[in-house]
Amino acid sequence: MSTKKRVTFGSKLGVVLATVGCAVGLGNIWRFPYMTGANGGAAFLLIYFVCIICLGLPVMITEFFIGRKSRRNAAGAFKVMAPGTKWSLIGYNGVFAAFFILGFYNVVAGWTLEYIYQALTNSLSGKSAEEFQRDFTLFSSGIFRPIFWTVLFGVMTHVIIVSGVKKGIERASKIMMPLLFLFLVILCVRSVTLPDASKGLEFLFKPDFSKINSSVVLSAMGQAFFSLSIGMGCLITYSSYFGKDTNLQKTALEVTILDTLVAILAGVMIFPAVFSFGIEPTAGPELVFITLPNVFNQLPMGGLWSLIFFILLGVAALTSTISLHEVATAYVHEEYHMLRSRAALWVSVGVLILGVFSSLSMGILKEYTIFGLTFFDFLDYITAKIMLPLGGMMICIYVGFRVDRKILKAELTNEGTTPFYFFNTYAFFMKYIAPIAIGLIFLNELGLIKIIQGFFE
Ligand code: PHE
Repeated sequence: MSTKKRVTFGSKLGVVLATVGCAVGLGNIWRFPYMTGANGGAAFLLIYFVCIICLGLPVMITEFFIGRKSRRNAAGAFKVMAPGTKWSLIGYNGVFAAFFILGFYNVVAGWTLEYIYQALTNSLSGKSAEEFQRDFTLFSSGIFRPIFWTVLFGVMTHVIIVSGVKKGIERASKIMMPLLFLFLVILCVRSVTLPDASKGLEFLFKPDFSKINSSVVLSAMGQAFFSLSIGMGCLITYSSYFGKDTNLQKTALEVTILDTLVAILAGVMIFPAVFSFGIEPTAGPELVFITLPNVFNQLPMGGLWSLIFFILLGVAALTSTISLHEVATAYVHEEYHMLRSRAALWVSVGVLILGVFSSLSMGILKEYTIFGLTFFDFLDYITAKIMLPLGGMMICIYVGFRVDRKILKAELTNEGTTPFYFFNTYAFFMKYIAPIAIGLIFLNELGLIKIIQGFFE
């Protein structure tokens, strides 16, 4: 592999769009509103912003550095940069995280397919808010139907990964991403003009600081990592395809801003409607799926709106599942010298098995819990709240303490040709602030800080 010239992304716009495609997905439109709802609204949003700026951006730039410098997959990158050391564990952490995320992501992506189907068969119109809620629970706790969609979505990802039609998807997403953005804006306008919409906006933007506790902080950090696709080598893998002249800092900034913007739009679209239709903001993973159809019902030709919206959401999910699958496939393919198609098959089969269990854990396997969490929630918890921040922390420690500053700066400035005005600030955040903050949030969540405080009292 290393002797062959690695393919690179075609155009500058292609670089940004592919990376945005990886970052923007269900994390912004499904997970962000439900996390915000479950964690008290505006106070969560505020901490989320702090995490994006202080942790997200520095980690993203650092992943870009590792990827383009090594030109390898997530695990292989560390074998090249730090041969014979244990740093490659960061890569393995990422490969496993990709597996686990796909294990529940495909289930939710499958739900979008069900909604496309329902829009096509016109079964979404004329229902009340309670009926949407009841029907969703009935559907998601079922056996065959949600599994069917989960498997179908997994197969779609698999076909794209092995057939190399990724280019087509990238090209399609150049049109579909902006279209999704436009739809979100229109739906926001519809949502904020509903009766009682101001309550939703207040919930989203007027912080109640008494709601902040360690679990809210951990959730906000987890959401920042999940949404930006950082801490697991996805962006290492993607940036290994970047060209020599790609401006890494600028790309990171653009991706971060776009990703955050989409999440905020999703929040503005959801919460006014949540309050207007009397839905509980703490409803959990179903929040978006029980709220949105109500909004569509308030639009002329509601069925058509929901059809187009869920197709766009499905495509946004697909560009993320492709990137997740790519992390695992590139690893198995390059490190085990296995045929790419065979590597992809192994990954897909593993992911499907996880997907079946996490889908069933919404229904008949609900009682079987791990640390008090259903299998679906468990996969979500260990990836977003543990594996990604841990990966991000180790990435920062590795580059901060093991990589020569000059090498870092040379790569991030394209050998001095593009200036990096805030390099020192970035380096300080990456080396000290990010690892310490992530470490403290972990310690706090584990209750260790309380124990240490107890010693000094
Ligand atoms: N960021 C993606 C989303 O918001 C999910 C993802 C996480 C993709 C980690 C790749 C890696 O949907």
